[in-house]
Amino acid sequence: MTNVHELIVPFHCAFVGEQEALAAADVVRSGWLTMGSKTIEFEKKFAEYVGAKHAVGVNSCTAALHLALEAIGLKQGDEVLVPTTTFASTAEVVTYFKARPVLVDVDPVTLCIDPCDAERRITPRTRAIIPVHFAGQPCDMKAIQDLAKHHGLRVIEDAAHALPASFAGVRVGAISELTAFSFYATKTLTTGEGGMVTTNNDDLAARMRMMRLHGISRDAWKRYSAEGSWFYEVLESGFKYNLTDIQSAIGIVQLEKCDAMNAARAQIASRYTTEFSKTSALQVPTICENRETSWHLYVLRLNLEQLTITRSQMIEELRTRGIGTSVHFIPLHMHPYYKNAYGYKPEDFPVATKEFERYLSLPIFPGMTGAQIALVIESVLGIVKAAAK
Ligand SMILES: Cc1ncc(COP(=O)(O)O)c(C=O)c1O
Repeated sequence: MTNVHELIVPFHCAFVGEQEALAAADVVRSGWLTMGSKTIEFEKKFAEYVGAKHAVGVNSCTAALHLALEAIGLKQGDEVLVPTTTFASTAEVVTYFKARPVLVDVDPVTLCIDPCDAERRITPRTRAIIPVHFAGQPCDMKAIQDLAKHHGLRVIEDAAHALPASFAGVRVGAISELTAFSFYATKTLTTGEGGMVTTNNDDLAARMRMMRLHGISRDAWKRYSAEGSWFYEVLESGFKYNLTDIQSAIGIVQLEKCDAMNAARAQIASRYTTEFSKTSALQVPTICENRETSWHLYVLRLNLEQLTITRSQMIEELRTRGIGTSVHFIPLHMHPYYKNAYGYKPEDFPVATKEFERYLSLPIFPGMTGAQIALVIESVLGIVKAAAK
């Protein structure tokens, strides 16, 4: 059996190189390592890239989501609609406020939050909805905005997967009041760890800038700089969520490469889809009209009734051929915490529960070689052929 460290095709490999290394080294040599001019530059360029007025750099998407919920004034006892098919962060941030994450089933085609199911779960306590752009494809933002307007909900987009992506020609980051991005190691733009929250609202931006640095009065990060002052005031009880200049310098280089990296992923996706569409035992991702995906993930589904193997066996078979895969996601309602704390059951989320059994995420990263792509295709098709009923 192949060891994961010897995989021929790892699940992911960050597309970083000399340029990022030099940019980070320049910051180290400058002597100013934490948030400073590089973070300000990265924020400005990021805001321009997505078409938002403000971008606030933070140390993770989890922090971005937390600050966004704080900025809208979420309170204990409030409810927030969250898709069950997501990472822990999306719902966890709601619990920071002793508020309730209300899990919602997903759409069978896109695996994004199902707006109709979301509407059914609205109560007088529902304050907000956090749509997750699953795998990089934007949710049905028209339906979500309509729902939010009708029920007076705030919309905070979890765009951890969705850079760059767009809905009806508008870039994710410029659609809703607040949007949270991730620069985690596997994401489409990486700074190792990091995140950004975008908004067009001046007050929300100012609040998040203050709360990311201990609730200290304006421009706290400048207090050790030439133009800064030793004097500061703590106005609120905040957090330590700032992004450093080292991370931001890497981010600036990555942002310049963002379109090229996106094109490389789209090309891999196109090859996968062409080949995998040839067998009815596989279901390839559907990208809906009017939406552009970042192709952060390529989520392949198995039509299990046509196969003698399970999804887990497929993963093991691919591993023995030297190919790393992953599963996005184990739905939140299937995790012990959500079962125990809220009593969620599999039958409460029929789509998410059923789809979970049959999806896996294949390697899709810009530096993949032609031989690696070919190996993934040949291996998947070979396994499917051998397991055909
Ligand atoms: C959908 C989603 N939301 C949020 C996050 C959290 O991102 P971060 O690790 O930057 O906090 C992730 C990370 O994988 C994610 O997949």
